[in-house]
Amino acid sequence: MDKPTFVIQPEKAESAAKQLGVTVLNLLSSLVKPAQSYARPPISKFHVGAVGLGSSGRIFLGVNVEFPNLPLHHSIHAEQFLVTNLNLNGEHKLKSLAVSAAPCGHCRQFLQEIRDASEIRILITTDQNSSPDSDGFLRLGTILPHRFGPEDLLHKDLPLLLESHDNRLTISDLDQICNGITDSDSNGDLKRICNGITDSDSDSNGDLKRTALAAANRSYSPYSLCPSGVSLMDCDGKVYRGWYMESAAYNPSLGPVQAAIVDYVANGGGGGYERIVGAVLVEKKDAVVRQEHTARLILQTISPKCEFHVFHCH
Ligand SMILES: *[C@@H]1O[C@H](CO)[C@@H](O)[C@H](O)[C@H]1NC(C)=O
Ligand SMILES: [Zn+2]
Repeated sequence: MDKPTFVIQPEKAESAAKQLGVTVLNLLSSLVKPAQSYARPPISKFHVGAVGLGSSGRIFLGVNVEFPNLPLHHSIHAEQFLVTNLNLNGEHKLKSLAVSAAPCGHCRQFLQEIRDASEIRILITTDQNSSPDSDGFLRLGTILPHRFGPEDLLHKDLPLLLESHDNRLTISDLDQICNGITDSDSNGDLKRICNGITDSDSDSNGDLKRTALAAANRSYSPYSLCPSGVSLMDCDGKVYRGWYMESAAYNPSLGPVQAAIVDYVANGGGGGYERIVGAVLVEKKDAVVRQEHTARLILQTISPKCEFHVFHCH
């Protein structure tokens, strides 16, 4: 198989389904095996593929991603990857998903952040003994009864995960590369001694900063009110981004570096993390939940040469 495709447009999904003589819904399970081949589980060697249908008719893929030399809780589960993939592509609703192994408790919980979560249809492709509804799918509400979720902590009118977010974030000195030194500053020497950023790469740093701010602006952090976003740049200058997504149960929350890694795995052409050479985190100063130290730790571990900068927004 050539370059992985993690988003399938509605027309393509429909023509593929027609060719196989199945419905688009049934197509999901036939895409699970190909999805599994894109998983990155160097620790467990257990490849998980999740394939979801959004309300736009687009099909999204998700895979599990594990990071050697980091604690296991930094892993990205396939269902979390899938939800992140929907979110990064502006899909507002996950209707159905097919997955190669039973969703773990952590993922059943993470999925609660989606509106009408109990109605999400799930097909476990390796499970012969489940007792699905007549359409062959289980309901998330059936496999996670007595749920704890956003409605236990949030006002019902607040937008949930996958719904539009505008965190109204700004950085006052957006066009400055670092403290008090602007692009228009005539003193080139000063500019160069500032964090080692030279004239030639100041543009890409500005790009990364803007991209990370725009990502943080879409972050889902209704429990801590501490939005954050990360942008990454690979050695070809291609930029990726992701934002922090919280869970009502706190621990299943997905960090902004992991979310940006989802974009990198989905759109980076299958390259290793050492190809990531630049990264920016944007978060609020004095936030009660801060990503900076964790983000630095993850990036240093997976991509030791990556240049990492943090900017504070308000
Ligand atoms: C934040 O989101 C809103 C709504 O999408 C958008 O209008 C605004 O430009 C965004 N701000 C930044 C800094 O990305
Ligand atoms: Zn899981």
